Amino acid sequence: MAAGKNWNVLVTRRIPEEGLELLSRDCALTVNPHDRPMTRAEFLSAATGKDGVLCLLTDKIDAELFDAAPGVKGYANYAVGYDNMDVAEATRRSIPLSNTPGVLTDATADMAWALLFSVARRVVESDAVMRSGAWQGWGPMQFIGGDITGKTLGVVGAGRIGAAMASRASGFKMRLLYTDARRNEAFERDTGAEFFTFDQLLAQSDFVSVHVPLLPETRHLFGREAFMKMKRTAYLINTARGPVLDEAALVAALKEGLIAGAGLDVYEHEPAMVEGLAALSSVVLTPHTASATVESRKGMAIKAATNLLAMLRDEPVPDCINPGVFG
Ligand code: DGY
Repeated sequence: MAAGKNWNVLVTRRIPEEGLELLSRDCALTVNPHDRPMTRAEFLSAATGKDGVLCLLTDKIDAELFDAAPGVKGYANYAVGYDNMDVAEATRRSIPLSNTPGVLTDATADMAWALLFSVARRVVESDAVMRSGAWQGWGPMQFIGGDITGKTLGVVGAGRIGAAMASRASGFKMRLLYTDARRNEAFERDTGAEFFTFDQLLAQSDFVSVHVPLLPETRHLFGREAFMKMKRTAYLINTARGPVLDEAALVAALKEGLIAGAGLDVYEHEPAMVEGLAALSSVVLTPHTASATVESRKGMAIKAATNLLAMLRDEPVPDCINPGVFG
């Protein structure tokens, strides 16, 4: 242990300085030196002998890791989503886990809107034509997209990000629908959205925006059956988790014209995309960057570091995912 430091901590990828600085006051840090995720072997070996780990959504936190690194007191995820973590196994072993809620809510909702605008108004296709020099001047039939103002937005998932997405719709005079496992009166009060079943929402929405966590019951929530229930003029936006959509079924649905387009920030098999997706002009694709603003990433770094320090100091962990471990 380095002099003056109380704990050895692994940070699995460089994060904003504010988080590293906070940790380094008390901890000797090992930061992944590469600008890529650690391989599984690198991760297992680097975690061994550490007291705490600040990890990413690309790191699998599971029984194999807990066995390889028995000294690690807790894992702080640098993400709000934590489908990369085996929460049940960690809880069984009394290992606390944390995430970073709140600090990326607005950035993610903003990105969902950016994708919505881009796909409905064909911004990316238009940009490509301008850059290519192929534009011959104004034309009445060029790049015709769909209206946004006055249309119906369906929000799937009434959590923080779903609420932020919904609250932005009022400026566009949109009718607002939402669905979730159950009615959420606070969500309705805050956003003015009406509750519908999933199928009803799909049938009525011009834009469907996905804001559910990845759970066994949300995996492939959107497959062929769902696309068939949507309007042929509808657009689908996903800034949540890739596997919520059956990506191959989405490509087929777009090719067949079951829906008009999609704006995606997340993918079923990141960093890969299913064959055919990138060739479609009816999709706008971003590389899982919905939280990539200076403010959000700094907030995530500070939150993850604060959570990890609390685990190491045996203090209450602000964003603990499995508070049951503290009895
Ligand atoms: C998250 O936090 O879960 C996002 O996917 C990345 O910021």
